[in-house]
Amino acid sequence: MQQLELIRAIPKAELHVHIEGTFEPELMFEIAQRNQIAIPYKSIEEIREAYNFHNLQSFLDIYYAGAAVLIHEQDFYDLAWAYFKKCHEDQVVHTEIFFDPQTHTERGVAFATFFNGFMRACADAKTQFGISSHLIMCFLRHLSEEAAFETLAQAQAFKDDIIAVGLDSSELGHPPEKFERVFAEAAQQGYLLVAHAGEEGPAEYVWQALDVLKVNRIDHGVRSEEDPVLLERLRAEAMPLTVCPLSNLKLCVVDDMQQHNIQRLLQQGLCVMVNSDDPSYFGGYMNDNFIAIAEALNLSNEEIKQLAINSFNASFIDSDQKTKWIEKIQQL
Ligand code: HPA
Ligand code: ZN
Repeated sequence: MQQLELIRAIPKAELHVHIEGTFEPELMFEIAQRNQIAIPYKSIEEIREAYNFHNLQSFLDIYYAGAAVLIHEQDFYDLAWAYFKKCHEDQVVHTEIFFDPQTHTERGVAFATFFNGFMRACADAKTQFGISSHLIMCFLRHLSEEAAFETLAQAQAFKDDIIAVGLDSSELGHPPEKFERVFAEAAQQGYLLVAHAGEEGPAEYVWQALDVLKVNRIDHGVRSEEDPVLLERLRAEAMPLTVCPLSNLKLCVVDDMQQHNIQRLLQQGLCVMVNSDDPSYFGGYMNDNFIAIAEALNLSNEEIKQLAINSFNASFIDSDQKTKWIEKIQQL
């Protein structure tokens, strides 16, 4: 099979996507107008022009500003539904979606408002496209431990529909250990655990995510390569790293896609896979990410298949589902 055809046809799971990061300028403009919220852009083109980030913080400033136009349940539904349409186009058959409750509750939007919007979109994606999904609630690490505990309490009524808790936002200066107690409490309550670590932060933050937070997956984790002992630990435990190539390029975690380490990590036997992170801000959805690394790194078809297999193995779906998708991939 031609490689492009393989990339398009192969079933994939997405494990690292922020729903607020799928907000396309067209929809942002439309929702801002319908909610009569002023945004500092006169046109869709101006929104796109503002997207020239040089690090994580310069991105986050714009990302939080964009999310501020979301008010009503329908806004959150529309946001998530637009993402599911992209999944359907890209043959993403399962997705585990991050959402940032504090980005919304801090503006006075109730937990139920965004959560019900997301849930309704997830249900429609299942019936209309056959796409399965899970929701992962992230704590903003630039905010306090106390604020994270408050968010965990607000989520109580929705707990059965949230598979895991995660940790995102500004990494440097906000090490995983800051959230040790709230992650322990979340584990007690039955949540699975993930955390962003080793994106801009050092390998030390990945150690902390493993040993202090006791996560089931590391989000990003590409800087783990700086520590051979850590790499061996990740390999031996088959600890997934949810790698996001176009994100790393856009936020200057790598200077050039040809220097991206995803292929080296894969060849060393780590459980890495491809994800889009914040696709509307970083230049592409799942298949764009696959195409970018396949070209830059000259990936083989076998490597593409292994990345897709890893995405299911690292997912939080049950083992029968994993087997079903992996067998389909192996038949391609
Ligand atoms: N890193 C940290 N926080 C985020 C990201 C990211 O890549 N995307 C959205 N919030
Ligand atoms: Zn992320």
